[in-house]
Amino acid sequence: MAAIAGVLVLAAAVAEAGPLPAFKAQSVELPADAAAFPDGPNVKTVTQNCLACHSADMVLDQPLLARPTWAAEVTKMRNVYKAPISDADAALIVDYLAATHSPP
Ligand code: HEC
Repeated sequence: MAAIAGVLVLAAAVAEAGPLPAFKAQSVELPADAAAFPDGPNVKTVTQNCLACHSADMVLDQPLLARPTWAAEVTKMRNVYKAPISDADAALIVDYLAATHSPP
């Protein structure tokens, strides 16, 4: 009941404020969202295992990371977030990340 009274008070306040300003259509430029992983070794395995919970951007927006850091990241996805990734696939994924997203 209190909630309904609140809505009525709010409605009255809006009515008192007079006519609403006219709204104009606006368009905004959204940043491009990388939906796919760029080509590289084992990219199919990466695509199959790493897009279930978040976009490729979550991975691609990271700085260039050394292989052990990527290995730890994939382990985190498996252990903390329960990503169902086999040992074999995890190794292939770390190879991809080390090849495509590591410092030279
Ligand atoms: C079971 C769901 C799931 C899968 C599958 C998954 N992730 Fe994640 N990932 C998450 C969650 C949850 C976060 C944290 C999101 C947040 O902080 O908003 C995350 C975040 C990340 C981050 C950002 C850094 C961090 O540690 O938070 C990276 C990089 C990442 N994931 C890489 C991967 C890679 C590579 C794969 C494929 C091997 C993968 N993820 C698969 C759930 C998953």
